Amino acid sequence: MKRITIKELLAHSADYVDKTVDVKGWVRTRRGNKNVQFVALNDGSTINNLQIVFDLSKTPEEALKPITTGSSIHVRGKLVASAGKGQSVEVQADNFEIYGTASPETYPLQKKGHTLEFLREIAHLRPRTNTFGAVLRIRHALAFAIHNFFNDKGFYYFHTPLITASDCEGAGAQFQVTTLPLDQLPRTEDGAVDYREDFFGKMASLTVSGQLEGELGATALGNIYTFGPTFRAENSNTPRHLSEFWMIEPEMAFYEIEDNMDLAEEFIKYCIGYALEHCADDIRFLNDHFDKELIDRLHFVLKNDFVRLPYTEGVKILEESGKKFEFPVYWGVDLASEHERYLVEEHFKRPVILTDYPKEIKAFYMKMNDDGKTVRAMDVLFPKIGEIIGGSQREEDFDKLSKRIEELGLTGMDWYLDTRRYGSVPHSGFGLGFERLVLFVTGMQNIRDVIPFPRYPKNCEY
Ligand code: 4AD
Ligand code: MG
Repeated sequence: MKRITIKELLAHSADYVDKTVDVKGWVRTRRGNKNVQFVALNDGSTINNLQIVFDLSKTPEEALKPITTGSSIHVRGKLVASAGKGQSVEVQADNFEIYGTASPETYPLQKKGHTLEFLREIAHLRPRTNTFGAVLRIRHALAFAIHNFFNDKGFYYFHTPLITASDCEGAGAQFQVTTLPLDQLPRTEDGAVDYREDFFGKMASLTVSGQLEGELGATALGNIYTFGPTFRAENSNTPRHLSEFWMIEPEMAFYEIEDNMDLAEEFIKYCIGYALEHCADDIRFLNDHFDKELIDRLHFVLKNDFVRLPYTEGVKILEESGKKFEFPVYWGVDLASEHERYLVEEHFKRPVILTDYPKEIKAFYMKMNDDGKTVRAMDVLFPKIGEIIGGSQREEDFDKLSKRIEELGLTGMDWYLDTRRYGSVPHSGFGLGFERLVLFVTGMQNIRDVIPFPRYPKNCEY
């Protein structure tokens, strides 16, 4: 017989009642008395468990002994309406087989309510908990929603390289990729490392962003998006930074900054709405167990327009707030998360898109405003998160862009400048940090808890 997932069984239970079904999964708990034993079975397809009932007049209790928390079993039995509280249906076991036991002496996921810190230390097993099951299913749904959104709008999924010889954000926080022997580096005559001998014949790194290559896609296909891993070697031990994270970067030909903001707002609302609709059980669980305001917050963001405000005005509000910030705030400063969150959570009480930042704190490719001081940047700031999206209109003028590249001493950009040399167009784009979106939708507090295998300074397990 074919295995039925618990999700399918519970969603269409009326179709299966009084029929024999085959279910397979992992045991969450076993309890009961001398006459009857109940197993809560979970197969990962849903947060909901299926109750399996063993009649001890048919099954000797001794045979059930190996069925402990974490063991894996196959049960065949009849699905019946349940008289008990907490479930509408249950399976009356006719026979069962045990795939694998999980010794109660050593299996780490015994009692309920492990701390998230403890679970981070056993990240290879934590997907088996209710919390991480919920987070990972929501993560999947959001990834699916993102592809849906762009596909429906006629955007093309464009694959940009993970290994690159360029530095998009210019922050100097790249992981180098090399096959050179580190204890015996080849040197040029003047003593520098001789990268001509390296695998690619030049210095290469893991990408910090697919944007520059994405712009090549947009100036050919019109509207594209990337969705892939990015890597940053910044030594940031914060609840919002990972060394390896996933980013979505749409890039649109003929979009000005206003179009870019409209798209960003529509996009993020679509994703949140999709999760609310398709992950109701998982979001409800996280709401009840971790963050009682989660569902309200998600609906609130859906219902309200984002505030759109120039950086200069944002700084004025912060300066006049009278609030004691840990980091000083003045025109020209790169805002810290506490500043961003003040604007969003205390001042406007809704998401804010901050625009027109000083050119010194933004990347070289952003379009210069007429004031010569600010660039057409846009950061989307979210409650609890701070910056969730960073983007801009791009400088399409060849002369201005090449001058800026020269000023900053960037090299190897000739291929990029070809987009401005040949058939240059106004265009814009942005990057959404996928894990920051998952953080917001799940209400989790730490970005390390919304990716299966987090990478951060001094941690590279599994
Ligand atoms: O603001 P960032 O650095 O922008 C770019 O990389 C542009 N090339 C995007 C573009 O215009 N196409 O990064 C974009 C987003 C941030 O807003 C943040 O959500 C996320 O990526 N992000 C990180 N997420 C987790 N860990 C980190 N270390 C992150 N750094 C950035
Ligand atoms: Mg940014």
